[in-house]
Amino acid sequence: MTLSGTEAQARTLGGYDDASRLRQVHDRDWVLDRVTGEPEVLVDLGSGIGQLLQAALERHPSLRLAVGLERSEHRIAEAGERLRPYASRVALHQADLTAPAPLPHRADVVTMTSVLHWLFPVEQRVLAWVRDHLAPGGSFLLTTYHPARDEHGLGGEDDIVREALTGLGIAPEAVPGLLADRGVLPIATRTRPEDELASLLGEFFTVDTWWEREATVTVGEAAQYEHFHAATFGDYYASVLEPGLRAEFFRAVGRAGWRRQQERGRVSAMPVRLWRLVPRGQDSAQPRQRTDTT
Ligand SMILES: C[S@@+](CC[C@H](N)C(=O)[O-])C[C@H]1O[C@@H](n2cnc3c(N)ncnc32)[C@H](O)[C@@H]1O
Repeated sequence: MTLSGTEAQARTLGGYDDASRLRQVHDRDWVLDRVTGEPEVLVDLGSGIGQLLQAALERHPSLRLAVGLERSEHRIAEAGERLRPYASRVALHQADLTAPAPLPHRADVVTMTSVLHWLFPVEQRVLAWVRDHLAPGGSFLLTTYHPARDEHGLGGEDDIVREALTGLGIAPEAVPGLLADRGVLPIATRTRPEDELASLLGEFFTVDTWWEREATVTVGEAAQYEHFHAATFGDYYASVLEPGLRAEFFRAVGRAGWRRQQERGRVSAMPVRLWRLVPRGQDSAQPRQRTDTT
């Protein structure tokens, strides 16, 4: 069967450089602005196409090693191209962060942006890994998204998907059951509420400071949201449908996003939190909260 352009894109999570400008890339400078001093080793978890690693290398000539761990072979390949000019200052490893293998490095900074929800419900494994791989005095900079959720645990992108599936003739009340039958956990369940996440993080780290901002996605046309969804979520949701319906599903997601854009002036908005964490026992200060308006 011939795949549509969007289906092919979803399969490789392609087009992320462009799509991530709508949301994820804003985490990059937000996080890197919190890196202080002259770090020598930085590890980025779920490093995608290497955007954060590249920016870190440019900002910090002190970095002798920037390490990326990422599951997608397509993304590793794209990151490899992007980071080729930095030669031996970069190491990229294909890795599954739900079962992370030890590395022979201790990092001054570990970053993880827009990734933790994909590791639900075994986030403890990566959190323990980070604790064990931080150099003394090092810190972990983590961003987490927190869409509101309904009684079925759906919210954020799940709502847009529900609207798209409804457009394909599936009753809205049947959507939670359809996702569950196909083993697709709602993203708003994966993301966990802030207080639950704070307890989980507290098993391994002291929260030094956290900041919060609103992540708003806006688009200029339906096709732009279709593209964003395919680059960000790939086949995750589309896999609940027969292959013959998937091209239409992606178009319906684009239409649902565009309808919201026209009705509300944005497709979505949700709080994003940036946590600066240090291994437990290294800092006993009370956590400080800041609210960012940018
Ligand atoms: C939304 S993207 C974020 C990419 C990048 N950190 C950013 O902020 O733009 C999520 C990334 O996590 C990766 N990922 C998801 N599950 C993973 C896993 N179990 N192990 C390693 N990487 C994973 C995906 O392949 C994807 O590149």
